[in-house]
Amino acid sequence: MILGIETSCDETAAAVITDDGHVLASVVSSQADLHSRYGGVVPEIASRRHLDLVAPVVREALDSAGASLDGVSKVAVTQGPGLVGALLVGVSAAKAIAWARQLPLVPVDHLEGHVASLYLEPDPLEPPFVCLLVSGGHTLLLAVRERGSSERLGTTLDDAAGEAFDKGARLLGLRYPGGAEIDRIAQDGDPSAFPFPVARVPGLDFSFSGLKTALLYAVRDLGVEETERRRADLAASYQAAIVRALARRIDEAASATGLDGVAVVGGVAANSNLRAALPDVRFAPLDLCTDNAAMIASAARYVEALPYPGYLGLDAYPSFS
Ligand SMILES: Nc1ncnc2c1ncn2[C@@H]1O[C@H](COP(=O)(O)OP(=O)(O)OP(=O)(O)O)[C@@H](O)[C@H]1O
Ligand SMILES: [Mg+2]
Repeated sequence: MILGIETSCDETAAAVITDDGHVLASVVSSQADLHSRYGGVVPEIASRRHLDLVAPVVREALDSAGASLDGVSKVAVTQGPGLVGALLVGVSAAKAIAWARQLPLVPVDHLEGHVASLYLEPDPLEPPFVCLLVSGGHTLLLAVRERGSSERLGTTLDDAAGEAFDKGARLLGLRYPGGAEIDRIAQDGDPSAFPFPVARVPGLDFSFSGLKTALLYAVRDLGVEETERRRADLAASYQAAIVRALARRIDEAASATGLDGVAVVGGVAANSNLRAALPDVRFAPLDLCTDNAAMIASAARYVEALPYPGYLGLDAYPSFS
């Protein structure tokens, strides 16, 4: 079995999977409530909370898998990208567990982790495919030709798609994290009520800052009461513009690469409108879209493990290169 640990942002997560990708347990403890009063994740608070939670969450994952460390053959942990203080808590915990048990340690890239959410049972996906990774921190188009590696086709020039959801939600007076809130409220709204733009940028890149500004102006022009009254329409139209932008690029990436398989992973892959708009596209399982450790353990299957005890100097990295 592989024990996975994930602490890159505001979820403390641990999971136990088998070598062939069956998830035995996946525990996610979200700190969202702790951060919502600040309108976003406060790094120092996140790190301290990870410290409180990491040991109980690992224990709970082992318990609910009906396993003990005796059955674990390697420990996988998110090395980056993310909040460096938060990452270091997971990396330190993973080192301690692996070292105490003389196990190998597998440092995992968080973004490869999101992609590897597609490789778990009961319905694992085989490359090649085009992968859209849409999360709170990233918007990437990837060509995945084999498990464990990918080629970058496009990225966002400004905000990530999840960030656009969160900032839009804030303008509409919704709680952090706002993506799921917009998704919920938009169900009662008219997606064509407001003609929000899709940015035109060259190649396969994305841009969401103009859309965010368009929403800001719409809210300002409507005023407080009218914004409140038309909130569902604003949310639906804003969401529709993000979905249009993503769907368009997926099509273009599929044509440009000639790959016919297409998949979407990351927190925004949970969006119901995006899922409905792309019926032929493969989506990560709903419970594995936002951060979790099952995907980290999954990705560890395609990364070379660091043998005991050579990993004590391992460091976290905050951003992707
Ligand atoms: N139903 C939904 N519709 C739209 N966005 C959503 C939905 N559910 C979650 N999100 C968004 O997903 C993001 C969180 O995803 P995830 O946990 O993958 O990101 P992250 O780990 O913070 O960033 P990264 O993976 O880039 O480091 C948030 O921006 C959140 O608003
Ligand atoms: Mg993530």
